[in-house]
Amino acid sequence: MKKKIAVFGTGYVGLVTAVGLADIGHDVFAVDIDRTRVKDLKKGYLPFYEPGLKKIMKTVITAGKIHFSSESDKAVNRSDVIFIAVGTPPLEDGRADLSQLRNAVDCVIEDLDSSKVIIIKSTVPPGTIDALKELHSAELESTKSEIVFCPEFLREGTAVHDFYHPDRLVIGSDSDTAARIVDDIFFPVVGKRDVPVLKCSPVSAEMIKYSSNVMLAARIAVMNELAEMSETVGSDIIEIAAGVGLDSRIGNSFLNAGPGFGGSCFGKDVSGLVTAAAARGVELGLIREILTSNDKQRLRPALRLEKAVGSLRGKKIAVLGLAFKAETDDVRGSAAFDVIEYLTEKGAQVKAHDPLAEYNFIRDFKKKGYSCTELVEDALKKADAAIILTEWKEYRNLSPECLAGCMKGRVIIDSRNIIDVNAFRSEGFTVFGTGMVEVKPKLKSRNRSDFMNAAIVSM
Ligand SMILES: NC(=O)c1ccc[n+]([C@@H]2O[C@H](COP(=O)([O-])OP(=O)(O)OC[C@H]3O[C@@H](n4cnc5c(N)ncnc54)[C@H](O)[C@@H]3O)[C@@H](O)[C@H]2O)c1
Repeated sequence: MKKKIAVFGTGYVGLVTAVGLADIGHDVFAVDIDRTRVKDLKKGYLPFYEPGLKKIMKTVITAGKIHFSSESDKAVNRSDVIFIAVGTPPLEDGRADLSQLRNAVDCVIEDLDSSKVIIIKSTVPPGTIDALKELHSAELESTKSEIVFCPEFLREGTAVHDFYHPDRLVIGSDSDTAARIVDDIFFPVVGKRDVPVLKCSPVSAEMIKYSSNVMLAARIAVMNELAEMSETVGSDIIEIAAGVGLDSRIGNSFLNAGPGFGGSCFGKDVSGLVTAAAARGVELGLIREILTSNDKQRLRPALRLEKAVGSLRGKKIAVLGLAFKAETDDVRGSAAFDVIEYLTEKGAQVKAHDPLAEYNFIRDFKKKGYSCTELVEDALKKADAAIILTEWKEYRNLSPECLAGCMKGRVIIDSRNIIDVNAFRSEGFTVFGTGMVEVKPKLKSRNRSDFMNAAIVSM
């Protein structure tokens, strides 16, 4: 059933949620304290890149299904349901900074005038929802309102797809009525597709979100350590991933080795859980180590390059990829920060390229010694070596002949294992993939999917 919904926060989660909810029939009022962002959104400009979002946003704006504002009172008064999707970034000591969340909840509670469901989408440490409910118990009781936790699992780069095709809907609520309202809101994407709906307590839902990210971060960390080992024994991490992934107990997703995980969530949520546990006297030693392991991985592409070319002083290095992963312009937690800092400190001249994330990277990385180029060819021109850090399609499709024509040197660090190694080898390049020392050219084309298919068929 159609609902009047307010969404607080128009970041990666809030905006995709607001636009998606409007598209499935709800009447949405999206609120952000960032007035410039609101002004831009009203004109249909997106504050970030997310594939497919612009088109749906245009449709829902034109249809009058979504409105943007900085006026929180108006949003609360007109709505039956309020989503909160503000940031919960890490503090210096690893705890989640809940100040944005507290401010947003305060605003909502201040204007609460009738029975409403407040749905928290921001990722929060266990116990947060119960604490908020206790803090605002008088207002919640007098208006018969509820606070529910509904964790978000979308991935940047496929967030729109994830909104319409979730793996599950988790509803952390002490109230059956409030849980049913959440279920109804998402019925068009969940009910029609028989997506599992898990109703549980708020604290279980909080733990589900943290635990999911811990499991995913751990898989990446394990694969990256295995990749390091693989380089020393001469095995191939793509073959290892294919073989391990065929075990139905393990499955084949999230087995790609690379320059460590980045983004705004995995690191923050691992440290959020570890610090929340420590505050309760529980030592999560294994989980804590995920971060140490990941930090080490982020620098490995630069260290491998240094080993391959010797002193970096005066060397021209092309760094391809600044976003933490492909199909997003988000640079939060990107390995590019560590790699470029290391290279420039060692005296290299760095030219960096990214199809979308250049602006955000320059905004966040104020150090000297590097420049960004608009065209990938300009970064590669006369370069002694290149490092691929992000798995953008355009890097996957780089032509070895073109690189041979413009680069001076013949060394490529392919930290994502995305280029056709054999083709580059025949142009005289030495390619260092993650998790492989030396490439044995037994397949004609050796991109990842060809290899996985060949490996599977030959078993
Ligand atoms: N980004 C992801 O991939 C992702 C995935 C799953 C869950 N999450 C979680 O979702 C939450 C939001 O993440 P994000 O990446 O969208 O954050 P973000 O930083 O991109 O956006 C947060 C937005 O909230 C706005 N805001 C802050 N205080 C506000 C207030 N009082 N009222 C209205 N707006 C306010 C900010 O101006 C900003 O636009 C976080 O807790 C995050 O951990 C993020």
